[in-house]
Amino acid sequence: MKQVAAVMKAWALKKENLPEHEAHKWWLAGLLHDADWEKFPGDHCRIIIEELEKRNIDPEIIHCIASHGPKHFGVAPESKMDKMIYMIDELSGFIHAAALVRPLQYEGMDVKSVMKKLKTPAFAAQVSREDIQDAQGRTGIPLEEIIDFIIQHQRDVR
Ligand SMILES: [Fe+2]
Ligand SMILES: [Fe+2]
Repeated sequence: MKQVAAVMKAWALKKENLPEHEAHKWWLAGLLHDADWEKFPGDHCRIIIEELEKRNIDPEIIHCIASHGPKHFGVAPESKMDKMIYMIDELSGFIHAAALVRPLQYEGMDVKSVMKKLKTPAFAAQVSREDIQDAQGRTGIPLEEIIDFIIQHQRDVR
């Protein structure tokens, strides 16, 4: 979640040129999107949404969290923030898995090797290639560009 938050915020600032207070929303959505996952895997996303609604959190943030898995939660990504959390969430975990099997982890990791692993169904098989394709289509941003950005921005997040 910390990695998704860091990449979301960096994307908002550097690629969308948003001001700090807007980028903070992207960070918060990233940080909280899976907050109920460990305790309530069967109700994932519903619980956190209810909690945030009770606390009158910004509806943009709530919608963003609700749309981070359109096939699972039935909420379609609409805003740029929505589409990017869907995209970054899927790829962030995948890239982290790719880093963990390399002796130098993120050091020297390139886009090509990640693209190759994406085409290897057995690698991190739980990451849905279909969702990645779907998210990429919605953002319209080349996969290579997003992968490169994630490698650069989540490497130091622990
Ligand atoms: Fe999730
Ligand atoms: Fe996630």
